[in-house]
Amino acid sequence: MKAIRGATTVDNDTPEEIRRAVGGLLSEIMAKNNLSYGEIICIMLSNTQDIKSLYPAKAARECGFAHCALYSSLEPDIDNSLKLCIRVMILAEIDKAPTHVYLGKAECLRKDITKIINIALDGPAGSGKSTVSKLVAEKLGILYLDTGAMYRAIALKCVRENADYCDKDAVKHILNGLDLTIDYRDGKQITMLDGADVGESIRTPQVSLLASYVSAYSFVRNKMVELQRQIAAKFSCILDGRDIGTNVLPGCEFKFFLTASPEVRAKRRYEELCAKGSAQPYEDVLKEINERDFQDKNRAVAPLKQASDAILIDTSALTAEQVAAVIVENVQRKI
Ligand code: DC
Repeated sequence: MKAIRGATTVDNDTPEEIRRAVGGLLSEIMAKNNLSYGEIICIMLSNTQDIKSLYPAKAARECGFAHCALYSSLEPDIDNSLKLCIRVMILAEIDKAPTHVYLGKAECLRKDITKIINIALDGPAGSGKSTVSKLVAEKLGILYLDTGAMYRAIALKCVRENADYCDKDAVKHILNGLDLTIDYRDGKQITMLDGADVGESIRTPQVSLLASYVSAYSFVRNKMVELQRQIAAKFSCILDGRDIGTNVLPGCEFKFFLTASPEVRAKRRYEELCAKGSAQPYEDVLKEINERDFQDKNRAVAPLKQASDAILIDTSALTAEQVAAVIVENVQRKI
Protein backbone atom coordinates (compact mmCIF):
# COMPACT_ATOMS: atom_id res chain seq x y z
CA MET A 1 0.00 0.00 0.00
CA LYS A 2 1.23 3.53 -0.76
CA ALA A 3 0.22 7.03 0.34
CA ILE A 4 -0.17 9.56 -2.47
CA ARG A 5 -0.15 13.23 -1.48
CA GLY A 6 -1.51 16.24 -3.28
CA ALA A 7 -2.90 19.75 -2.88
CA THR A 8 -4.61 22.45 -4.85
CA THR A 9 -6.13 25.89 -4.31
CA VAL A 10 -9.33 27.70 -5.31
CA ASP A 11 -9.70 31.41 -6.08
CA ASN A 12 -13.15 31.67 -4.47
CA ASP A 13 -14.97 29.71 -1.81
CA THR A 14 -17.86 28.48 -3.98
CA PRO A 15 -19.20 24.90 -4.30
CA GLU A 16 -18.53 24.96 -8.07
CA GLU A 17 -14.89 25.95 -7.65
CA ILE A 18 -14.33 23.42 -4.88
CA ARG A 19 -15.90 20.65 -7.00
CA ARG A 20 -13.75 21.64 -9.99
CA ALA A 21 -10.56 21.83 -7.88
CA VAL A 22 -11.14 18.52 -6.07
CA GLY A 23 -12.19 16.73 -9.28
CA GLY A 24 -9.16 18.13 -11.14
CA LEU A 25 -6.73 17.16 -8.39
CA LEU A 26 -8.07 13.61 -8.03
CA SER A 27 -8.15 13.03 -11.81
CA GLU A 28 -4.55 14.25 -12.12
CA ILE A 29 -3.44 11.93 -9.30
CA MET A 30 -5.25 8.99 -10.98
CA ALA A 31 -3.59 9.76 -14.34
CA LYS A 32 -0.08 10.42 -12.98
CA ASN A 33 -0.15 7.19 -10.95
CA ASN A 34 -1.97 5.14 -13.57
CA LEU A 35 -4.43 4.36 -10.78
CA SER A 36 -7.73 2.51 -11.13
CA TYR A 37 -10.73 3.17 -8.85
CA GLY A 38 -10.45 -0.33 -7.40
CA GLU A 39 -6.93 0.38 -6.10
CA ILE A 40 -8.07 3.32 -3.94
CA ILE A 41 -8.69 2.36 -0.32
CA CYS A 42 -9.55 5.77 1.07
CA ILE A 43 -9.27 9.46 0.30
CA MET A 44 -8.58 11.86 3.16
CA LEU A 45 -9.00 15.54 2.44
CA SER A 46 -8.36 18.63 4.50
CA ASN A 47 -8.98 22.30 3.87
CA THR A 48 -7.98 25.67 5.25
CA GLN A 49 -10.57 27.41 7.43
CA ASP A 50 -11.44 30.00 4.76
CA ILE A 51 -13.23 27.22 2.81
CA LYS A 52 -16.78 26.93 4.13
CA SER A 53 -19.14 26.36 1.23
CA LEU A 54 -18.61 22.62 0.56
CA TYR A 55 -16.83 19.70 2.26
CA PRO A 56 -14.03 18.59 -0.08
CA ALA A 57 -15.04 14.96 0.66
CA LYS A 58 -18.58 15.73 -0.55
CA ALA A 59 -17.08 17.31 -3.66
CA ALA A 60 -15.05 14.13 -4.21
CA ARG A 61 -18.19 11.99 -3.95
CA GLU A 62 -20.00 14.29 -6.36
CA CYS A 63 -17.06 13.87 -8.77
CA GLY A 64 -17.55 10.09 -8.85
CA PHE A 65 -15.31 8.92 -5.99
CA ALA A 66 -18.14 7.22 -4.12
CA HIS A 67 -16.78 3.67 -3.90
CA CYS A 68 -14.14 4.27 -1.20
CA ALA A 69 -13.98 5.75 2.29
CA LEU A 70 -13.92 9.56 2.16
CA TYR A 71 -12.99 11.87 4.99
CA SER A 72 -12.65 15.65 5.40
CA SER A 73 -10.94 17.60 8.16
CA LEU A 74 -10.27 21.22 8.96
CA GLU A 75 -6.69 22.45 9.16
CA PRO A 76 -5.45 24.77 11.92
CA ASP A 77 -5.36 28.45 11.03
CA ILE A 78 -1.66 29.19 10.65
CA ASP A 79 -0.33 32.73 10.11
CA ASN A 80 0.94 33.44 6.59
CA SER A 81 0.03 29.99 5.32
CA LEU A 82 -1.44 29.36 1.88
CA LYS A 83 -5.10 30.47 1.64
CA LEU A 84 -8.07 28.60 0.12
CA CYS A 85 -6.09 25.39 0.02
CA ILE A 86 -7.32 21.77 -0.20
CA ARG A 87 -4.95 18.90 0.58
CA VAL A 88 -5.39 15.22 -0.04
CA MET A 89 -3.85 11.93 1.00
CA ILE A 90 -4.94 8.82 -0.89
CA LEU A 91 -4.12 5.34 0.39
CA ALA A 92 -3.89 3.01 -2.58
CA GLU A 93 -3.12 -0.64 -3.13
CA ILE A 94 -0.10 -0.10 -5.42
CA ASP A 95 3.53 -1.24 -5.31
CA LYS A 96 5.26 1.37 -7.43
CA ALA A 97 6.60 4.65 -6.03
CA PRO A 98 3.75 7.18 -5.83
CA THR A 99 3.71 10.41 -7.82
CA HIS A 100 2.46 13.29 -5.69
CA VAL A 101 0.56 16.12 -7.36
CA TYR A 102 0.55 19.80 -6.39
CA LEU A 103 -1.55 22.15 -8.51
CA GLY A 104 -2.34 25.85 -8.68
CA LYS A 105 -0.86 28.00 -5.93
CA ALA A 106 -0.20 24.80 -3.95
CA GLU A 107 2.81 24.17 -6.23
CA CYS A 108 4.83 26.33 -3.85
CA LEU A 109 4.24 23.83 -1.01
CA ARG A 110 6.46 21.21 -2.58
CA LYS A 111 9.07 22.84 -4.82
CA ASP A 112 11.01 19.58 -4.64
CA ILE A 113 8.14 17.89 -6.50
CA THR A 114 6.78 20.63 -8.73
CA LYS A 115 10.14 21.95 -9.95
CA ILE A 116 12.76 19.93 -11.78
CA ILE A 117 15.84 19.69 -9.61
CA ASN A 118 19.20 18.38 -10.79
CA ILE A 119 22.09 17.40 -8.56
CA ALA A 120 25.59 17.14 -10.03
CA LEU A 121 27.81 14.61 -8.28
CA ASP A 122 31.34 14.29 -9.63
CA GLY A 123 34.42 12.48 -8.44
CA PRO A 124 37.01 9.85 -9.33
CA ALA A 125 36.39 6.12 -9.71
CA GLY A 126 35.57 4.45 -6.39
CA SER A 127 34.77 7.67 -4.50
CA GLY A 128 31.32 6.26 -3.75
CA LYS A 129 29.35 8.25 -6.30
CA SER A 130 27.00 5.52 -7.48
CA THR A 131 26.11 4.17 -4.00
CA VAL A 132 25.61 7.70 -2.69
CA SER A 133 23.59 8.73 -5.76
CA LYS A 134 21.22 5.79 -5.33
CA LEU A 135 20.65 6.70 -1.67
CA VAL A 136 20.11 10.40 -2.43
CA ALA A 137 17.71 9.57 -5.28
CA GLU A 138 15.70 7.30 -2.99
CA LYS A 139 15.59 9.80 -0.13
CA LEU A 140 14.52 12.71 -2.37
CA GLY A 141 12.23 10.64 -4.61
CA ILE A 142 14.15 11.58 -7.77
CA LEU A 143 15.91 9.53 -10.47
CA TYR A 144 19.57 8.56 -10.60
CA LEU A 145 21.34 9.02 -13.94
CA ASP A 146 24.55 6.99 -14.05
CA THR A 147 26.37 8.80 -16.87
CA GLY A 148 29.36 6.46 -16.63
CA ALA A 149 27.06 3.66 -17.83
CA MET A 150 26.69 5.50 -21.14
CA TYR A 151 30.46 5.63 -21.74
CA ARG A 152 30.70 2.02 -20.61
CA ALA A 153 28.03 1.04 -23.16
CA ILE A 154 30.09 2.55 -26.00
CA ALA A 155 33.16 0.74 -24.69
CA LEU A 156 31.21 -2.53 -24.60
CA LYS A 157 30.10 -1.99 -28.18
CA CYS A 158 33.78 -1.49 -29.17
CA VAL A 159 34.65 -4.79 -27.47
CA ARG A 160 31.78 -6.61 -29.17
CA GLU A 161 32.67 -5.21 -32.60
CA ASN A 162 36.38 -5.73 -32.04
CA ALA A 163 36.98 -2.03 -32.74
CA ASP A 164 40.37 -0.55 -31.87
CA TYR A 165 39.75 2.21 -29.30
CA CYS A 166 42.92 4.05 -30.49
CA ASP A 167 41.46 4.33 -33.99
CA LYS A 168 39.33 7.47 -33.95
CA ASP A 169 37.46 6.52 -37.13
CA ALA A 170 36.64 3.07 -35.79
CA VAL A 171 35.14 4.61 -32.61
CA LYS A 172 33.29 7.20 -34.74
CA HIS A 173 31.82 4.38 -36.78
CA ILE A 174 30.66 2.65 -33.58
CA LEU A 175 29.13 5.88 -32.31
CA ASN A 176 27.27 6.55 -35.56
CA GLY A 177 25.57 3.19 -35.41
CA LEU A 178 25.06 3.24 -31.65
CA ASP A 179 21.64 2.13 -30.44
CA LEU A 180 21.79 3.32 -26.80
CA THR A 181 18.77 4.28 -24.71
CA ILE A 182 18.30 4.98 -21.03
CA ASP A 183 15.02 3.73 -19.58
CA TYR A 184 13.68 3.72 -16.05
CA ARG A 185 11.82 0.81 -14.52
CA ASP A 186 10.46 1.25 -10.99
CA GLY A 187 12.80 4.23 -10.65
CA LYS A 188 15.88 2.20 -11.65
CA GLN A 189 18.05 3.02 -14.66
CA ILE A 190 18.10 0.41 -17.41
CA THR A 191 20.95 0.93 -19.88
CA MET A 192 19.84 -0.57 -23.19
CA LEU A 193 22.38 -1.32 -25.92
CA ASP A 194 21.04 -2.71 -29.21
CA GLY A 195 17.72 -3.36 -27.50
CA ALA A 196 19.14 -5.40 -24.57
CA ASP A 197 19.81 -4.52 -20.93
CA VAL A 198 23.62 -4.33 -20.51
CA GLY A 199 23.60 -3.32 -16.82
CA GLU A 200 25.86 -6.24 -15.86
CA SER A 201 28.10 -6.62 -18.93
CA ILE A 202 29.35 -3.02 -18.72
CA ARG A 203 30.89 -3.61 -15.26
CA THR A 204 33.89 -5.75 -16.23
CA PRO A 205 37.44 -4.37 -15.60
CA GLN A 206 38.10 -4.47 -19.36
CA VAL A 207 35.07 -2.29 -20.10
CA SER A 208 35.94 0.04 -17.17
CA LEU A 209 39.34 0.83 -18.62
CA LEU A 210 38.12 1.08 -22.18
CA ALA A 211 35.31 3.45 -21.10
CA SER A 212 37.94 5.76 -19.68
CA TYR A 213 39.73 5.80 -23.07
CA VAL A 214 36.70 6.25 -25.33
CA SER A 215 35.24 8.95 -23.07
CA ALA A 216 38.27 11.11 -23.93
CA TYR A 217 37.07 11.58 -27.53
CA SER A 218 35.23 14.88 -27.92
CA PHE A 219 32.78 13.43 -30.48
CA VAL A 220 31.82 10.71 -27.97
CA ARG A 221 31.37 13.24 -25.17
CA ASN A 222 29.29 15.63 -27.30
CA LYS A 223 26.77 12.92 -28.10
CA MET A 224 26.57 11.62 -24.50
CA VAL A 225 26.35 15.10 -22.98
CA GLU A 226 23.45 15.93 -25.29
CA LEU A 227 21.57 12.84 -24.10
CA GLN A 228 22.39 13.61 -20.44
CA ARG A 229 21.09 17.18 -20.79
CA GLN A 230 17.87 15.95 -22.39
CA ILE A 231 17.21 13.59 -19.48
CA ALA A 232 18.12 16.24 -16.88
CA ALA A 233 15.74 18.75 -18.49
CA LYS A 234 12.85 16.28 -18.31
CA PHE A 235 13.31 14.68 -14.87
CA SER A 236 14.46 15.61 -11.39
CA CYS A 237 17.62 13.56 -11.05
CA ILE A 238 21.04 13.20 -9.54
CA LEU A 239 23.70 12.73 -12.20
CA ASP A 240 27.03 11.22 -11.30
CA GLY A 241 30.12 11.46 -13.46
CA ARG A 242 33.32 13.38 -14.00
CA ASP A 243 32.20 16.60 -15.66
CA ILE A 244 28.58 17.10 -14.64
CA GLY A 245 29.19 20.26 -12.59
CA THR A 246 31.80 21.70 -14.97
CA ASN A 247 30.47 20.80 -18.40
CA VAL A 248 27.14 18.93 -18.58
CA LEU A 249 25.15 21.21 -16.24
CA PRO A 250 27.41 24.16 -15.39
CA GLY A 251 24.38 26.16 -14.18
CA CYS A 252 23.19 23.40 -11.86
CA GLU A 253 22.08 24.65 -8.42
CA PHE A 254 23.38 21.64 -6.49
CA LYS A 255 26.95 20.49 -7.08
CA PHE A 256 29.04 18.09 -5.04
CA PHE A 257 32.47 16.58 -5.57
CA LEU A 258 33.49 13.40 -3.76
CA THR A 259 37.08 12.44 -3.07
CA ALA A 260 38.91 9.66 -1.21
CA SER A 261 42.50 8.45 -1.35
CA PRO A 262 43.32 5.99 -4.19
CA GLU A 263 43.98 3.28 -1.56
CA VAL A 264 40.56 3.71 0.08
CA ARG A 265 38.86 3.71 -3.32
CA ALA A 266 40.78 0.64 -4.47
CA LYS A 267 39.83 -1.18 -1.25
CA ARG A 268 36.15 -0.41 -1.83
CA ARG A 269 36.30 -1.63 -5.46
CA TYR A 270 38.27 -4.70 -4.38
CA GLU A 271 35.65 -5.61 -1.76
CA GLU A 272 32.86 -5.03 -4.28
CA LEU A 273 34.58 -7.34 -6.78
CA CYS A 274 35.26 -10.00 -4.10
CA ALA A 275 31.56 -9.97 -3.19
CA LYS A 276 30.81 -10.68 -6.85
CA GLY A 277 33.22 -13.63 -6.80
CA SER A 278 36.11 -11.97 -8.67
CA ALA A 279 39.67 -13.09 -7.86
CA GLN A 280 41.34 -9.85 -9.01
CA PRO A 281 44.16 -8.99 -6.54
CA TYR A 282 44.00 -5.70 -4.60
CA GLU A 283 47.25 -4.46 -6.23
CA ASP A 284 45.69 -4.80 -9.69
CA VAL A 285 42.59 -2.91 -8.62
CA LEU A 286 44.76 -0.10 -7.19
CA LYS A 287 46.79 0.03 -10.41
CA GLU A 288 43.60 0.24 -12.46
CA ILE A 289 42.22 3.05 -10.23
CA ASN A 290 45.45 5.05 -10.63
CA GLU A 291 45.45 4.48 -14.37
CA ARG A 292 41.84 5.62 -14.72
CA ASP A 293 42.47 8.66 -12.48
CA PHE A 294 45.36 9.67 -14.72
CA GLN A 295 43.26 9.19 -17.88
CA ASP A 296 40.20 11.01 -16.52
CA LYS A 297 42.18 13.95 -15.10
CA ASN A 298 44.53 14.47 -18.02
CA ARG A 299 42.32 14.16 -21.05
CA ALA A 300 42.01 17.29 -23.17
CA VAL A 301 38.20 17.39 -23.21
CA ALA A 302 36.16 17.92 -20.03
CA PRO A 303 38.68 16.35 -17.63
CA LEU A 304 37.72 15.21 -14.13
CA LYS A 305 37.76 18.44 -12.14
CA GLN A 306 35.91 19.93 -9.21
CA ALA A 307 33.62 22.81 -10.25
CA SER A 308 34.54 25.98 -8.36
CA ASP A 309 31.02 26.13 -6.86
CA ALA A 310 30.83 22.44 -5.92
CA ILE A 311 30.84 21.31 -2.29
CA LEU A 312 33.81 19.01 -1.64
CA ILE A 313 33.18 15.90 0.50
CA ASP A 314 36.06 13.63 1.48
CA THR A 315 34.41 10.22 1.82
CA SER A 316 37.49 8.35 3.12
CA ALA A 317 36.15 8.08 6.66
CA LEU A 318 32.42 8.32 5.93
CA THR A 319 29.80 5.70 5.15
CA ALA A 320 27.68 6.12 2.02
CA GLU A 321 24.68 6.86 4.29
CA GLN A 322 26.59 9.70 5.96
CA VAL A 323 27.64 11.22 2.62
CA ALA A 324 24.07 10.95 1.30
CA ALA A 325 22.76 12.65 4.45
CA VAL A 326 25.14 15.62 3.90
CA ILE A 327 23.91 16.01 0.32
CA VAL A 328 20.20 15.62 1.16
CA GLU A 329 20.50 18.12 4.01
CA ASN A 330 22.22 20.66 1.73
CA VAL A 331 19.61 20.27 -1.00
CA GLN A 332 16.62 20.39 1.35
CA ARG A 333 17.94 23.52 3.00
CA LYS A 334 17.88 25.34 -0.35
CA ILE A 335 14.53 24.16 -1.78
O1 DC B 1 31.76 6.30 -13.24
P1 DC B 1 32.22 5.09 -14.09
O2 DC B 1 33.37 4.36 -13.49
O3 DC B 1 31.08 4.19 -14.43
O4 DC B 1 32.73 5.74 -15.48
C1 DC B 1 33.33 4.99 -16.50
C2 DC B 1 34.27 5.88 -17.30
O5 DC B 1 33.52 6.83 -18.05
C3 DC B 1 35.26 6.68 -16.44
O6 DC B 1 36.57 6.18 -16.47
C4 DC B 1 35.27 8.05 -17.03
C5 DC B 1 34.13 8.12 -17.97
N1 DC B 1 33.11 9.10 -17.58
C6 DC B 1 33.27 10.37 -18.05
O7 DC B 1 34.26 10.67 -18.71
N2 DC B 1 32.34 11.31 -17.81
C7 DC B 1 31.24 11.01 -17.09
N3 DC B 1 30.30 11.96 -16.88
C8 DC B 1 31.08 9.70 -16.55
C9 DC B 1 32.05 8.77 -16.81
